[in-house]
Amino acid sequence: MKKVFTVLFATSIAASIIACGGAETKDKTVVASVTTDISADPNYKKGLDLVAKSDCLTCHKINEKSTGPAYNEVAAKYAGAADSTITRLAGKIIAGGSGVWGAIPMTPHPQVSQADAEQMVKYILLLKNS
Ligand code: HEC
Repeated sequence: MKKVFTVLFATSIAASIIACGGAETKDKTVVASVTTDISADPNYKKGLDLVAKSDCLTCHKINEKSTGPAYNEVAAKYAGAADSTITRLAGKIIAGGSGVWGAIPMTPHPQVSQADAEQMVKYILLLKNS
């Protein structure tokens, strides 16, 4: 679950170097690598454990459409979601429903608590780049 993002800061760095008067280095391209590991997020393991214990993975795959939408697509759709969206998605896991991704309904999960469902949603929303 390791992702390496390579970000080019060429223009902004060049601009700030010019501002400082360092003319000889102004055309240098600076590459910064930032490694993010979503499995280090506490919401990852807690949510994954709950999802694995329930029946979610019979209908959902991480990065491939199955009976339900792929979790990375769900994460992409709700990237940066507000708390109210997390609450609403958790409620949908419990109540079931259809119409957002197609006509096939998600079955209700009345045995799942609101808190556990929210934890599952927080895990799913980490999977955007998976
Ligand atoms: C019987 C198959 C099935 C099971 C089991 C299932 N899902 Fe789904 N899920 C679906 C389908 C189908 C959709 C798309 C519903 C829609 O289009 O509104 C969906 C949608 C979702 C969404 C996105 C909802 C939205 O409105 O965008 C989330 C989040 C989700 N499921 C999580 C879960 C979790 C967590 C579990 C386990 C507790 C689970 N699902 C179990 C079939 C299933």
